[in-house]
Amino acid sequence: MDLFRYRQGRLFCEDVPVADLADRFGTPLYVYSAGTLRLHYEKLAKAFAALEPLICYSVKVCSNIHILRLLAEMGSGFDIVSGGELFRVLEAGGDPATCCFAGVAKTDAEIRYALEAGIRMFNVESEQELQNLARLARDTGRRARAALRVNPDVDPRTHRFITTGKKETKFGVDLERAECVWRTFAASDGARWVDLAGVQAHIGSQITTVEPYVQALGKIVALVDRLAEAGIRIATLDFGGGFGAEYEGGEALAAEAFAGAMIPILEGRGLEILMEPGRFIAGNAGILLTQVQYVKPAGDRTFLLCDSGMNHLIRPALYGSYHHVWPVDPGEDFAPRQRIRDEAFPGTVVVDVVGPICESSDFFGKDRHLPPVVRGDRLAVFSAGAYGMSMASEYNAFPRPAEVLVHGSEARLIRRRGTYEDLVAPEKDL
Ligand SMILES: Cc1ncc(COP(=O)(O)O)c(C=O)c1O
Repeated sequence: MDLFRYRQGRLFCEDVPVADLADRFGTPLYVYSAGTLRLHYEKLAKAFAALEPLICYSVKVCSNIHILRLLAEMGSGFDIVSGGELFRVLEAGGDPATCCFAGVAKTDAEIRYALEAGIRMFNVESEQELQNLARLARDTGRRARAALRVNPDVDPRTHRFITTGKKETKFGVDLERAECVWRTFAASDGARWVDLAGVQAHIGSQITTVEPYVQALGKIVALVDRLAEAGIRIATLDFGGGFGAEYEGGEALAAEAFAGAMIPILEGRGLEILMEPGRFIAGNAGILLTQVQYVKPAGDRTFLLCDSGMNHLIRPALYGSYHHVWPVDPGEDFAPRQRIRDEAFPGTVVVDVVGPICESSDFFGKDRHLPPVVRGDRLAVFSAGAYGMSMASEYNAFPRPAEVLVHGSEARLIRRRGTYEDLVAPEKDL
């Protein structure tokens, strides 16, 4: 569900014709719908209300400070994985006391920065990190709250590159070892400086079934119970993010479906609940606009050569991800009536939609059925709000795109387009 719709053959973001945004701000351009961000945040808040969770939006997903501010105003906390993400949250006016800090290789400088900022919780990913956190907390004289990130060894049934809750991945501490970590740490001097009262897990991303969560939570609450028997009380359970967005249409589960399976496992245990959704909130709230520079027949293929590619949206190259691509102004005959996903339209042609980058993995979509497209047409790459701009680079020295946030009939530039000067500024005056 999102607020990008075709009306009379033209794509709108909320009440703004997308072509007008391309005219005004140029391409490549990320366009976000504030209404869609709010809608998805509210869906989660409503579905999980029985647990009164703190929703910590995952900053890595789409980290523009204006989007962070919008979410902070809705009451969101933040899942951060670096000092830079904490800086972004603070710049956005977010409350550090709502931030939980994950990441397998936090540096001393990042830990000190987070201690001094007064974040809510460190999600510790290894025994060495726990000892280091205790040392730095003692040095800075600030007692830290922490959760141990556990690895419940469940298969989230998603792409292997976005699987994080299987034992062979680098994330968290496996359950058997985790129990030992708590027992040993509780009896150590470090416990004076770190209150290890939380358990966290994040099993993967783009998860579209409830079973992996049910399995993971079952294992985690059993651990919490075993620890309680040993006199170690866990106060906070953070089950991470992972809820899927719609890319092809129809694959994402409703928030109520996840909540319906998870709430019975968690409620009535007196646990403070945190969650770290990212993609579910932002995935369908953004599109990437690109302009076709040339149409090139080659052998039995036709390439649409665009002004944006894997440098600005790397997901197809990185994970083979599907993004629906469709012209911004296809006209009445080709405008999808109900949905913006793949629908069979008579008169479409088969094309590869590719970018300007000197890599053969630089594509948005292959063998796509699109209406006839000519040089200069603008295309929308849908469901690009999550892991889009936040993963964009300046590879091949193309500056980063601009970003625009639409509220109803208003569009606001929230990041100016990169410039050639931006490319070289950190290399100058050294
Ligand atoms: C620790 C942690 N929490 C939350 C998320 C957000 O995941 P998603 O965007 O699938 O909700 C991630 C994503 O990688 C993560 O690593």
